[in-house]
Amino acid sequence: MAKETLRWRVDALCPDTGVLAAAGEVIRRGGLVAFPTETVYGLGAHAGDAAAIAALFAAKGRPPEKALILHIAAREELWFYVKEVSPLAARLIEAFWPGPLTLVFKSSGRLPAAVTGGLPTLAVRVPAHPVALGLIRAAGVPVVAPSANLSGRPSPVTAAAVLADLGGRIDAVIDGGPAPLGVASTVLDVTGEVPRVLRSGAVGAAEIAAVTGTVPEGAAGKGGSFRFGIPLILVEGAGAAVRAEIERLYTRFTTAGKKVGVIAREENAARYPGLVIPCGREGDVGSLAACLYVAIGQLAAAVDLVLLEGPPEETGFALRLRRLAAQVIRVEEGL
Ligand code: TXA
Ligand code: MG
Repeated sequence: MAKETLRWRVDALCPDTGVLAAAGEVIRRGGLVAFPTETVYGLGAHAGDAAAIAALFAAKGRPPEKALILHIAAREELWFYVKEVSPLAARLIEAFWPGPLTLVFKSSGRLPAAVTGGLPTLAVRVPAHPVALGLIRAAGVPVVAPSANLSGRPSPVTAAAVLADLGGRIDAVIDGGPAPLGVASTVLDVTGEVPRVLRSGAVGAAEIAAVTGTVPEGAAGKGGSFRFGIPLILVEGAGAAVRAEIERLYTRFTTAGKKVGVIAREENAARYPGLVIPCGREGDVGSLAACLYVAIGQLAAAVDLVLLEGPPEETGFALRLRRLAAQVIRVEEGL
């Protein structure tokens, strides 16, 4: 019997906490809630609840041997669910989480066998989307999320596409607008000596190689890294010099008739003119990664180019940002 599927509309960068709490409660009680991630829409269920997992497979018409990805809100939660995290996996996590890279580990066996179709491994990722992260936190339980489509159909990028497939079959969809990347995460097996690509996706083999030093297995001829449709100019360096350079570039491009967007840390956003999206906090590169893709996606619909305050810290994520950027400008204090 068909059920009524609720549709909750939220702001992607600043989702209503009441909606997240209500959606989290549905998941905690064994229900199914679709939600946006930075890649595609996922269909969330309580990973520790075997009945909820069964309902999830039934709603999608998914073959039971196809394992699910565990979505966690913070990398610190990983240890509970997997046997070991190799130094190489730790480097990948540092560079890509939150973000569109799913890693396959040896499972610690703490979730029902149906989650992994009986496999001894478990796929895990930290999504880079404020709605996904907020929902996982609000649920307070481990959340699995396959793409929110009927089995065999394309992964949905909007709530409307989710409803076209799963309306009447799931409890609710949180509509946070289009998923900014529109392509699923790359699935990488890190249980062996050399990482192996099991599904190519938003993170390209070259990007993985830039972190690990070697091209992963299974990557031959597979597509490159995701790039946004508008140029991203990354300005790196010490704080005051970065701000001065962004102001200079803003003036130069707007004078040339371009529409310019700026993505800045929350502390600095008020300093800039024009269309500014605050994203992340100073000294917390994870908080930048969590909203960056959504912020760029929103600006891509409104401007010709984006100026981005780079993080001052030299982290793995800084590497990722450089690859996303059309241009990287390094400024020094006092120049
Ligand atoms: O971007 C994404 O990954 C989206 C969003 C919602 O996070 N999720 C997604 O999930 O695409 P799904 O279930 O549609 O695809 C997961 C892929 C499948 O190809 C599955 O076989 C593979 O990951 N997978 C999951 N667990 C695995 C495991 N333990 N070993 C090998 N492959 C695994
Ligand atoms: Mg899928």
